[in-house]
Amino acid sequence: MSDADSPLSPAGDRHFDGLADKFAASLYGKARGELRLALLDRLLPEMLALDGQPLLDVGGGLGQLAAWFADRGHPVTLVEPAAEMRERARAELTGRSVTFLDAPLQALPEVAPGPWSLIACHAVLEWLADPRSALATLAARLAPGGQLSLMVFNRDALRFSNVVKGNLDKALADRLEGKGLRQRLTPISPLTDAQIVAWSAECGLEIRAVAGVRVFHDYLRRPAESDADRERLLALEWRYCRHDPHWRLGRYLLYTLVRPETASIVTPDEEPHP
Ligand SMILES: C[S@@+](CC[C@H](N)C(=O)[O-])C[C@H]1O[C@@H](n2cnc3c(N)ncnc32)[C@H](O)[C@@H]1O
Repeated sequence: MSDADSPLSPAGDRHFDGLADKFAASLYGKARGELRLALLDRLLPEMLALDGQPLLDVGGGLGQLAAWFADRGHPVTLVEPAAEMRERARAELTGRSVTFLDAPLQALPEVAPGPWSLIACHAVLEWLADPRSALATLAARLAPGGQLSLMVFNRDALRFSNVVKGNLDKALADRLEGKGLRQRLTPISPLTDAQIVAWSAECGLEIRAVAGVRVFHDYLRRPAESDADRERLLALEWRYCRHDPHWRLGRYLLYTLVRPETASIVTPDEEPHP
């Protein structure tokens, strides 16, 4: 495939142009998407201190998260480089307080420098060629005391589900990531908790809370078919999503990362103190 045909952006990221239908159908059109939203609906108020502050939603996709925040009184700025995703989100979010920016995360210093007291970046880093510097870019947009709700696709869970499905050669070769080609929805940079712990420390962020999103669902031998089974599964997911060791095998890892209050107060006759 020539570079001109590649679906990857010049930075090597997989913007979701050409993937909106597939993404809408295979994630949000299925039980796994419903479960993700049901868990976020319970987790976000527990993991974040929310008081209607403006939200920067980076890689906002089809706009489900923006809708959740806008409905709770947060003015939202949704940044999304894929026109197809942005236009669907715009249609979904009509009547809500949402501003749309056509830009990739890497352009945030120019288009939405902040400082922001609340940023969300869900299921985006795993689609980037350089997720580590992307996290630094997000961290630099946070105000002192500001919170980043970060959700990433979990590489350890991807290995586990490959083994469960019998893809033993793939797991043995540790060939887990996708290439971002065609209509494939296997992320190009699945991430580990160890990476998030190390990279957050590098950019001065503290991990305040962590949860696994879908700690059981993706390993089921039989899908939960009845409403009663789906409810029981949700109850189990909710009960264990923040417990060790279960959260570690969530399909997604959800973090609250906080930029510490480091502003120093300086008076003329005093040394700065924190
Ligand atoms: C899996 S979707 C997640 C969408 C949404 N955040 C959600 O949780 O449903 C990944 C999104 O990241 C966007 N994306 C890819 N590369 C990006 C970049 N460099 N900057 C910002 N968004 C990007 C894609 O276009 C896509 O809409």
